[in-house]
Amino acid sequence: MANYHLLLHSWGPEDFEKLKAKFEAAEGLPDLPAAAMRVCEAIDKGTSGAADLERIVLADPALTANILRVANSSFHGGGSKQTTTVKGAIMTLGEKSIRSIAVSVWVQSLVQQSQTSPSFSASRFSEHSMFVGFLSKYLLSVASKNRGAKSAWNADEIFAAGVLHDLGIALVASLEPGLYDHILRKAQADSTDLNVAFHSTFGKPVQSLAVIALERWKLPKMFVDVLLGYSDPLNAASEVDALCCVNLADNLALNSGYSFCDWPVKVSLNEEIISRVGLDPESIPEVLELTSRHTREFVAAA
Ligand SMILES: [Fe+2]
Repeated sequence: MANYHLLLHSWGPEDFEKLKAKFEAAEGLPDLPAAAMRVCEAIDKGTSGAADLERIVLADPALTANILRVANSSFHGGGSKQTTTVKGAIMTLGEKSIRSIAVSVWVQSLVQQSQTSPSFSASRFSEHSMFVGFLSKYLLSVASKNRGAKSAWNADEIFAAGVLHDLGIALVASLEPGLYDHILRKAQADSTDLNVAFHSTFGKPVQSLAVIALERWKLPKMFVDVLLGYSDPLNAASEVDALCCVNLADNLALNSGYSFCDWPVKVSLNEEIISRVGLDPESIPEVLELTSRHTREFVAAA
């Protein structure tokens, strides 16, 4: 009966504050694992050395395995130079990168383990998120090489931000499954994607809910800046180049079939953003094929 009620519930802008309150409530959001908190604290305070960080990471076998896996993926500059130890990964990548990789890994596993709406596909979420993470990172390197773009965010931070960019949708599927189903049906009826369907229901972006989670977890502010800025990067107050990379990566993912939806979503690409990134339009099919291959390999190995 409860599900029947949820299916019939009609959502509108007047429900947004209630939704926000649910995200803000202590029992609403899942907690980050203790090891995640300790890594972030250790790096934020700047009081721990590489040896302390290594100890924290090694205490969590899943985190250790995932950091090595991400650090060695070819999109992370792996390939010929393999990193076989956590110490090596910390020395090679740096603390900010380790924190970013750890955050992306934790959020992915959080989504995989959460109880969500049956219509939410954790594997599609993972594929979309990783695709956008890998491609955002690649595009930032293109922007830097071809356009001299500068960003205060490093390559691994932009990767993690790409992985997190749709966190709001995953949290809605977990905290409010009936709403997720409503948004999914609306997106299907409009042949659009879930972010657009959420916005047209509430008049607010779903990212504003994800930001509540990021602040609760005390994650670096750059993730908040990405979530709030990537959908309209040309009007962002700062980091326009990096935000253009995440925006373009997201739209290219949707156009390549890496979306949450069973139906094809086609998004028109903004030429100003493509030109700002410095991506040669003729190279797009090859870049997508490469990103797709890395994503499939990465997700299959998880
Ligand atoms: Fe997305």
